[in-house]
Amino acid sequence: MKRIGFAGMSFAVALAFLLPVLFAAPAAGADSKGGLDGKMVFEKKCGVCHRLSLTTNRREWKPEWREIVDRMARKRDGWISADEAAAIVDYLGSEYGKD
Ligand code: HEC
Repeated sequence: MKRIGFAGMSFAVALAFLLPVLFAAPAAGADSKGGLDGKMVFEKKCGVCHRLSLTTNRREWKPEWREIVDRMARKRDGWISADEAAAIVDYLGSEYGKD
């Protein structure tokens, strides 16, 4: 009786520690828009004409990133879709923003 009680107790404790981990895991990967990973899209699309460091050396507010990304998208027709541009702007705005 006492043993079962103790086992039940440690199970509850283990669950209490596990639950936040289980719920945190999907949230961590859900920062992309419409299934697009901004970092991956950025590295794939923005490094073909010039070095990525041309971008990553800069710090801009999100509206400036949007303007830059829009301008870059217009340089090559169909290379960067509107969804991809939005994901890139989100990524640059949060990782290379001014604060
Ligand atoms: C089709 C080729 C091409 C692609 C793709 C491209 N760029 Fe550019 N980028 C250029 C050229 C050419 C310049 C220099 C002339 C200019 O500024 O228009 C430049 C300049 C820049 C500059 C510095 C000058 C400025 O205007 O402030 C930044 C920052 C930049 N690109 C970011 C990006 C980002 C972010 C992406 C992806 C969304 C990207 N580029 C994709 C061709 C490209």
